[in-house]
Amino acid sequence: MGRKLLVSGNWKMNYTHLEAITALQALDVRLNRSLLAKVDVSIHPPFTALRSVQTVVEADDIPVMLGAQNCHFEDKGAYTGEVSPSMLAKLGVQLVIVGHSERRTYFHETDDDISRKLSAVLRNKMIPMLCVGESLAEREEGATEAKLESQLRGALAGIDRKSLSDLVVAYEPIWAIGTGRAAYPDDAEAACRHLRSVLSQLLGSELAEQIRLLYGGSVDPDNTAELVSNEDVDGVLVGGASLDPEKFAAIIKQAASTG
Ligand code: 13P
Repeated sequence: MGRKLLVSGNWKMNYTHLEAITALQALDVRLNRSLLAKVDVSIHPPFTALRSVQTVVEADDIPVMLGAQNCHFEDKGAYTGEVSPSMLAKLGVQLVIVGHSERRTYFHETDDDISRKLSAVLRNKMIPMLCVGESLAEREEGATEAKLESQLRGALAGIDRKSLSDLVVAYEPIWAIGTGRAAYPDDAEAACRHLRSVLSQLLGSELAEQIRLLYGGSVDPDNTAELVSNEDVDGVLVGGASLDPEKFAAIIKQAASTG
């Protein structure tokens, strides 16, 4: 394999900027630098905590990448309440989650919106982390592969393939998010293998091999090693457990020793 795994923590709508600083420092004391050389780590605090987290990362030289959870698809304009990708880039954000199922469900984001966001992230020289995943009903109907394929095709439509070598795609089955019921490692691998084969059709096999595929949904320190030992699972996107520095550090350690 020889790949470097990526462990990402999506803090969702949790932590004030002060709580975020405390959480980051608590994580930092639990990780050593040689461990962090073996695995890439990103954290995705809410917008209001990005600046504080960025300052601590830089001041303490913590080797984690700064990530955001969402952005608008325009760089500026009359969009009250929105945050643009150029604002994120200026703050030192390196990765932006696009198309999380919570945004698709609660904020009615379509594949077309997600495609525009993905292109906006790339235009601003950041890495998009595209989330895809099926509902429980779709899984039970045997429609998982079709759903993943249509979400991938929808998000990547019209995007220049040459810009996509750093793309990250996170497979997050909706039924596994926040439920304590992670996908079986074999199912996570099958879904990621399918994503890689669709990416290969869309972008060519060389590029498809470079794209990191993460699994997300009830990841914890006990299931990480088995999930990332699969060939097509290149890391994990962690929600709830990333809020607990003890658990998140344990997940990073598992990934570092498996990758
Ligand atoms: P949980 O790890 O809390 O299931 O959340 C997963 C997720 O949605 C990460 O983006």
